[in-house]
Amino acid sequence: MPKVTFKNYDGKGSDKTVEFESGKLPYTDHGKPESLLDIALNFEVPLEHACGGSCACTTCHVWINEGADNMSEAEDDELDRLDMAADLSLKSRLGCQAVVLKGEVTVETPTWNRNYVSEGGGSMNLGDAIPTGKK
Ligand code: FES
Repeated sequence: MPKVTFKNYDGKGSDKTVEFESGKLPYTDHGKPESLLDIALNFEVPLEHACGGSCACTTCHVWINEGADNMSEAEDDELDRLDMAADLSLKSRLGCQAVVLKGEVTVETPTWNRNYVSEGGGSMNLGDAIPTGKK
């Protein structure tokens, strides 16, 4: 049963750990099924997603601190999009594309992105700065 810990998910130092049965998580229509974004939305963890999870922005950028081997491999379109992300690191993934396959995963949201969410940011505030997603 996959287990995901969202570090400092509220920007106040709290962690949130959630578990779900693989293949049974209700799909939220954002990102790939059982992606970090899908999981976050299911468990009310704030994770920005300005393009609806279609790999067309970088607002869902997260760092995988532990358990990267328990995730799906990044595909070329994710890697291309990640190149545009702020605070890019070797542990960077797009939350809408990174699917949790098994085991335990620990995720952290880059500070600039977490602050954006906590300050009431939202997709509509980004306007035309975000390209339309793939159909
Ligand atoms: S929500 Fe836009 S790339 Fe993930």
